[in-house]
Amino acid sequence: MDDTRYISSTTNSPSPFSTKWEAPSNIALVKYWGKKEPQLPKNPSLSFTLTSSVTITEVIFTPSDKNSFGFDFYFEGALKLDFYPKLESFFKQIKKYVPWIDAYSLKISSNNSFPHSSGIASSASSIAALSMCIMDMERTLFPQIIDPEFNQKASFLARLGSGSAARSIEGPVTLWGKNIAQVDSSDLYAIPFGKNLHPVFTDFQDTIILVDTGRKAISSSKGHELMYNHPFSDQRFVQAKNNLANLFHVMQTGDLDEFIKIVETEALSLHAMMMTSNPYFILMQPNTLEIIHRVFEFRKQTQIPLCFTLDAGANLHLLYPKSIKKDVRAFISEHLVIYCQNGQYLFDEVGSGAKKV
Ligand code: PMV
Repeated sequence: MDDTRYISSTTNSPSPFSTKWEAPSNIALVKYWGKKEPQLPKNPSLSFTLTSSVTITEVIFTPSDKNSFGFDFYFEGALKLDFYPKLESFFKQIKKYVPWIDAYSLKISSNNSFPHSSGIASSASSIAALSMCIMDMERTLFPQIIDPEFNQKASFLARLGSGSAARSIEGPVTLWGKNIAQVDSSDLYAIPFGKNLHPVFTDFQDTIILVDTGRKAISSSKGHELMYNHPFSDQRFVQAKNNLANLFHVMQTGDLDEFIKIVETEALSLHAMMMTSNPYFILMQPNTLEIIHRVFEFRKQTQIPLCFTLDAGANLHLLYPKSIKKDVRAFISEHLVIYCQNGQYLFDEVGSGAKKV
């Protein structure tokens, strides 16, 4: 792995700077579950970048008095000490690549667009927004950095904080992990799907059904770790690679029947890995299964191409083309809302990635 081209220099003349970026969450269609050092995926993954589920982060960079790095982190206006270990480990990982950061102290202030404790993982959007702020600062110090290197390095840094965050820099569809379908793919950062994306996927809809908004019993880091000695991990990595190759083709042809088969297989395989880990665990809840059955029935009765996917949690992402939005939304509000915690669900759609605000 040659990562030396991502190492920038130190700076002798630090100066104050502040910047604010918004980065979206993403939902994987082919899942990343299992990794190796340094935060490299055991199989490639592909995701939809979202639009409305975003984190907005402002970073104020102040030259540090003692020439030593430090940060404060505020979430929704309050100092948030629980996030420090995750951030400390992120900065520890990225310092080699942004050594100039040692001359600064950072005030990081973040807000999420989605409701607090909604059960939506915010690590992808928050680490991606922070990485964009850091890259914006790097661009003021080293103006020669231009696109696509800017986004590539932002994705590279984000990956070191949270693997799936690498896929939250660009949109509408991104690919992370070396694979034969796209020659410029890499394990180090995510890349946009490219020019041949079928138009049906450029405005695909995602309604997030909130079944359980509590904290997950097992973190994703623990789940990844359990893939090391998992009895089915080798087969799972092969399956994911094959699913990616097939989905890659589907993303170009727009074949929704095939899309549904691959996406739902991936969701259930991810959870099957959890249920067969040692120790085993279950993140789905009874209402997750109720909704899955309702989706199967609805699809059978109406032939409407609605499908589901799952993240590492009990909530569902219902995916469908924009052209059938009205029918699907009527189905959700009439038949699924009873299974949602406090009747909550969120409309989102595929989007274009992080932006400066
Ligand atoms: O980025 P992490 O370490 O939180 O892992 C993400 C794992 C899944 O969300 C379950 C799958 C994925 O590819 O996003």
